[in-house]
Amino acid sequence: KKPYVYITRNIPEEVIAPLKTLAEINVWEGGNKKVPADILKREAAKSIALFTTLDDNINKSLIENSPNLKVIANMAVGYDNIDVSAATKHGVFICNTPGILSDTTADLAFALLMSTARRIVEGNQFIKEGYWKDWGPLLMVGRDIHHKTLGIVGMGRIGEKVAKRAAGFDMQVLYHNRSRKEEVEETLNVTYCTFEELLEKSDFVVNLLPLTEETKNKFDSTAFSKMKNEAIFINVGRGLTVEEDDLLDALNKGEIAGAGLDVFRQEPISNQHPLINLDQVVAVPHIGSASIDTRYAMMRLAVQNIVNVLQGKYPEAYVNKDVTI
Ligand code: GLV
Ligand code: GLV
Repeated sequence: KKPYVYITRNIPEEVIAPLKTLAEINVWEGGNKKVPADILKREAAKSIALFTTLDDNINKSLIENSPNLKVIANMAVGYDNIDVSAATKHGVFICNTPGILSDTTADLAFALLMSTARRIVEGNQFIKEGYWKDWGPLLMVGRDIHHKTLGIVGMGRIGEKVAKRAAGFDMQVLYHNRSRKEEVEETLNVTYCTFEELLEKSDFVVNLLPLTEETKNKFDSTAFSKMKNEAIFINVGRGLTVEEDDLLDALNKGEIAGAGLDVFRQEPISNQHPLINLDQVVAVPHIGSASIDTRYAMMRLAVQNIVNVLQGKYPEAYVNKDVTI
C-alpha cells in the first residue's frame, strides 16, 4: 500500500505529478477556501506527509494525533503556523521554501512603499470615481523615496534584497537584526543600529520580522511614537508583530504618515476594519511572494521536500535540524 499524502490546497496537477508514483494523494477540494480544522486533523492522522499553507494551523494535538507523519511541507518561508517543537519531538521534518521567494517579496515591499509614498492607490481611485477635473500644483502630492532613509527590521534574505533595491534609489539604508551581519554591511552598504535608533532616523520602516516569542507585538505605541511624523511603515513580515490598534492610533494622531500592509493580525482582515478605511493605508491580501513564477517554484519545492522524505532522503529545505532520517 502506498503512503498517504494530504495536500491542503487545490494545486495544479503538473506540480503534484512527481508524487503520483510514490504516494496515494488526497487534495482538499475547497479551492482557496481553507480546510476546516477537523478535516485536517482527520486527514493528518492517516498521512505520512502533509502539504500545507501558512493559514493551516498545525498544532501539537494534530501532530500527536498523527503517528505516521514524517514531513510537513509548508508552502511558505515562514512556519509560525506550525508547532515546530512538537514536530521535532515526534521526528517530523518541518519544511519551508526559503530563498526562492526573496526577490519577489522584496519587489512587493518596494511596491507597497512606493504606492504608499506616492499615493498610487488614492490617485487611481480619484480618477476611477470621476474626481479628476483639473491639474493642480499640490494635487495628490506625496513623499519622495529617493535619497531618503530606509530602515529594515529583520535583515534576512528578503531584507538583503530590499536593501539592494534601495541602493538604486540612492537611499541610505539602516537595519536592525537579532545578530549583526558585518558581511552584508560591507557588500550592501547598510548600517546596523538599535531598534530605537532605526525608528527615530528612518523615513521608511520596513518590517520583515518572522513571528516568534521575541518579535510578537514589537511594533507597539512606544515604537510608533519614536518614528518621524513623516515616516511610512511597511509590513511584509507577520501581522502579529504589530499592535494594530497602536498603529491605527499612530496614523490617526499623525505620529506617522502612512502604512503599506501585506500582513495582518487576523487574516483575512475585514474591509470594515478602521485601518483599511484610512486613505493613507495601502493594504494587500498577503501576496508578498505572489508572482506566478515564484508561487510555482514554492509549490514545486514543497512537493520536492515531500518526495525526498518518501525516498528516504533529507528534504531540500527544513528548519528543525535535530530531526534525522
Ligand atoms: C509568506 O508570508 C511566507 O512566509 O512565505
Ligand atoms: C526570508 O527568506 C528571510 O530570511 O527574510
